[in-house]
Amino acid sequence: MLAVINCTQLITLQGAARPRVGAEMRELGIIEDGAMLVGRDGRIARVGARREIEPLIGDEDEVIDAGRRIVLPGFVDAHAHPVFAGTRAGEFEQRAVGATYQEIAQAGGGIRASVRATRAATEDDLVAASKRYTGWFLRGGTTTVEAKSGYGLSLADELKMLRAVRRLNAETPLQYVPTFLGAHEVPDEYRARRADYIELIINEMLPRVAQEKLAEFCDVFCEERVFTVDESRRILEAACAHHLGLRLHADQLSLSGGAQLAAELHATTADHLEHTDAAGIAALKSAGVQPVLLPGSVYALGSQKYPAARAMIEAGLAVVVATDFNPGSSPTPSMPLILSLASTHMKMTPAEGLTAATINAAYSLGRGGETGSLEAGKRADFCLHDCADYRELAYFFGIEHAHAVYIGGRLAFRRGA
Ligand code: NIG
Ligand code: FE
Repeated sequence: MLAVINCTQLITLQGAARPRVGAEMRELGIIEDGAMLVGRDGRIARVGARREIEPLIGDEDEVIDAGRRIVLPGFVDAHAHPVFAGTRAGEFEQRAVGATYQEIAQAGGGIRASVRATRAATEDDLVAASKRYTGWFLRGGTTTVEAKSGYGLSLADELKMLRAVRRLNAETPLQYVPTFLGAHEVPDEYRARRADYIELIINEMLPRVAQEKLAEFCDVFCEERVFTVDESRRILEAACAHHLGLRLHADQLSLSGGAQLAAELHATTADHLEHTDAAGIAALKSAGVQPVLLPGSVYALGSQKYPAARAMIEAGLAVVVATDFNPGSSPTPSMPLILSLASTHMKMTPAEGLTAATINAAYSLGRGGETGSLEAGKRADFCLHDCADYRELAYFFGIEHAHAVYIGGRLAFRRGA
C-alpha cells in the first residue's frame, strides 16, 4: 500500500455522489492534518485524520510525506483541444495590433489555419506534438483531460486525430476523454456547399467514429458564421442516435441560441456561455445541463465579457471550469490560472472554483464515480501542491504550485525530477 501523510489540508471533496450545486460548491470536505491510504490496485482505500491512518501503515508500505503541503484531487479539465499541429503565434501578434478573432477566421485563418497544419501532419507527428502538452497538463496538476478532435474536418483527418488521442491515452499517464468535434468549422473545400459538409459529418464521420468507439461525446461549435442552431441540432441528434453524449460550444461570441439548444437536447454540457442570458440559464437548469465556463479564452481574446458564473451558481447549476486549451483562443493548459480568473473575473470563491475544477468536472465527463474527489474506491488521482492553504492556489498566480502528481496511485510528475 501507499500512504500519504503530513498534509496541512487533505481536500477530499467528499460528498453526495452527484455534481455539487449551490452552497455545496463551497464544501470541500477538508481534513486538517489529513492522511490517505492507497491500495495496490491504485484505488483509494481510506482517508482520514493522521492519527487514525498512521497506525494502519505497515513496514512494507511506501510512505509519501507531503511535507506540510496541501493534497487535493487531480484537476479534471473538461473542455480542451489538446491535439493539433503547429501554433498560431502569428495570429496572437495580429490580435495584439488590433485584429479580432472573428476577422482572422473570416480571412481564412483561425481554426482553418490549424486544420491545414493538422492535415499535413501524420498521426505520429500529432502524437509527438501533443505529448509536449501532456507534460504541461501534468505539471499543472491535471490528471484527466477532455480531448476534442476538430482540426481534421475530413473523415480521414478526424479519425487520425481521434486515433492520436487513443495513443496518448495508452502512452502517457494522463487520462484523456475523447470528443468528436467534426463540426468545429466548415473546411475550405466545403465553403461553397456547407450543406454537403453537414451530410458528411452525419452520414460518414459519426457512424465511423461510433463504430470504432473513438469518442464518448460529440460537440458542435454553434455560432454565427459557424454552425447555426438548426445545423447543430441535426448533427447532435445524429450523434445521440449513435449513443454519444452531447456537448456544445454555445453563446461564446454572441447570443446565438446555443444554451437553449443544449437544454432542448438535454446535452451533458453547454460550454463557454459568455453571452447567455437569464432565460438561457433557466433553460439549462430545467434540463439539468452542466455549464462549462472557460475564462482562459475570454482573457486570451482580450475580451471583458466573462460568463455569469454567480447567476449560474445561484440558479443551482453544477458549474464546471476548464482551460479550453487550444492554439487559438486559449493557449493555456493551466487549471491554477483558470482558478485565478474564476475568482478575479467571475467572482467564484476559491472553494467554488475547486469544486468546479474537480468533482463537477468529473461528472461532466462521465467520470464522477472514478475521479474528482478523494474517497474510498476511487482511482487515486491526486496532487501535492506547494501551498499551506487551498486558497493560495488561485491567489498566487503565474507560478506552478504542483509538487507531485499521482494518477492511479503512480507518480506521473514530480517537480525537479
Ligand atoms: O473553444 N470556439 C471554438 N473553438 C475553440 C477555439 C479553437 C481555435 O481557435 O482553434 C474555443 O474557443
Ligand atoms: Fe473550445
